[in-house]
Amino acid sequence: MNQNWWEKAIVYQIYPKSFKDANNDGIGDLKGMIESLDYIKALGVDTLWLNPIFISPQVDNGYDISNYYAIDEIFGDLNDVEKLIEEAHKRELKIIFDLVLNHTSSEHPWFQEAIKGPQNIYRDYYLWADAKLDGSYPNNWESFFGGSVWEKDHKSEQYYFHLFDKKMPDLNWKNPEVKKSMVDIAKFWLAKGIDGFRLDAFIHMVKDDFSLDVQGVPDGEIALAEEYYANLPEVKRFLSEFISEIREINPNCFILGEAASATPSLADSYIREDLCSAVISFDHFEEKITSKDVKIPKGLESKTIDAKRMKENLIDWQETLAVEKYPTLYWNNHDMPRMVSRFGNDKEYRDKSAKALATGMYLLRGIPVILYGEELGMKNLEIDNIHTFQSPKAVDQHIQLLENGFSKEDSLAIIASANKEASRGVMQWDRTSHAGFSTQASWIGENVEETYNVEFEMKDENSVLHFYQRLLSLKKEDLFSFGAVTFLESDDNVLAYKRLFEEEEAIVICNLTENFAEIPDCTKELDQWHLVIDSGDSLDNEELAPYTYKVYRR
Ligand code: BGC
Repeated sequence: MNQNWWEKAIVYQIYPKSFKDANNDGIGDLKGMIESLDYIKALGVDTLWLNPIFISPQVDNGYDISNYYAIDEIFGDLNDVEKLIEEAHKRELKIIFDLVLNHTSSEHPWFQEAIKGPQNIYRDYYLWADAKLDGSYPNNWESFFGGSVWEKDHKSEQYYFHLFDKKMPDLNWKNPEVKKSMVDIAKFWLAKGIDGFRLDAFIHMVKDDFSLDVQGVPDGEIALAEEYYANLPEVKRFLSEFISEIREINPNCFILGEAASATPSLADSYIREDLCSAVISFDHFEEKITSKDVKIPKGLESKTIDAKRMKENLIDWQETLAVEKYPTLYWNNHDMPRMVSRFGNDKEYRDKSAKALATGMYLLRGIPVILYGEELGMKNLEIDNIHTFQSPKAVDQHIQLLENGFSKEDSLAIIASANKEASRGVMQWDRTSHAGFSTQASWIGENVEETYNVEFEMKDENSVLHFYQRLLSLKKEDLFSFGAVTFLESDDNVLAYKRLFEEEEAIVICNLTENFAEIPDCTKELDQWHLVIDSGDSLDNEELAPYTYKVYRR
């Protein structure tokens, strides 16, 4: 078999600001990561993905880049990053960087030139349009961060386009100079020895004709316009030109594309030699509302996993990408709440749900992407300041919840349960006052917990951490990396599948919920099999207990 190294990769996502603060300024840094490499190696992952570390005004925690060639001083400098790459490689850990192709910071020199006027040679690096004849925005498209995608440049009276924050103007990929500049950036970092990129929001690189409005939207209002700014056919052309040049320098580099709205078949079309190696999509997650409470604003209702639909999605991903392509397997990242709080149960079944969800997901065929701290069972960050939330709706939601009788703590917890900041709490290294992350209070806050931290869990054989180590060592075997997957008949809440590789076989059974479920029939014929992972629940009972997980082999 001639495999690409990344087909067997287990990725560990590090949110640099929150991982380890070596210089004790309350913000994580590269030296902190270097100090933590032995821990990461011992976990059993083999590839690091770092969220952006380049110079940035930090409007969007580094996704707004003003200099792609240098490290933001909050994280360290070029020497530190070179050292990190070297030390990671010494331990046989690969390392990939986040590359933001769709936009820059408004403080990037290209944009600073562009706003000098329409004649400036950098003007065409960005996207511009005039107001409509009646003076309103060029169209009714809404930005992902709220408000119109258009912001007026008062000097020229033209509008520039921003899909995210107004301080993050979108690049114009139809201008060949943009591609050239980005290729140079990618080459610079590949020459430093990194092993690939996570491509941020690449599906938005191309926009449709700006004269098109979203239909059915009342005059003066705006609406999300995915059909005009996501997954347009030309994305593949521009991306292919870009990737082909990168692959000339490093044919084995791993390109992990973020395609938030990609369905399995769309993802399939993005995975190609000259496009992505694998794709991260948000498509497989399914939740259902558990209780409607008129006092809770829309969008913040309490939810739980919709295991039936989630399972159908996972099956679709597995089947669509079954040959020579690999799905990514993940439960959380820096843009969504944490797995054990969102899909598991971080109160009654914290350890068990963390272990069950990890087992069910990561033993499927595909590339696991584990969010730092997930391996400890870290839950949503307890946030005590409403201004921590970036969502423009948060303040209004908080006011409404307080008016409806919720305490400040409850209101903030409800808002956190639906927001990305919940996942960005600092890594819990120990139980000292700043969780061993720093000697200072951190930039975002920390949960300090007696038993959920590296120090404690290393000593506890039954910890979530030890469990992840065992699970990931299984995952590395060819059976779990490359073996075929067959789904087995099971209750809606239960994920049951078989893996088969040459002579080896395994059966994985997981109850993904806190409900009792029917015991799958396949368990009746397991005499010749032995358990390699076991939640300890008996199958002699009438039903499968909440979050039961079992892995059998023969
Ligand atoms: C990143 C987000 C970021 C956005 C804009 C995303 O997909 O994951 O955290 O806000 O791109 O760069």
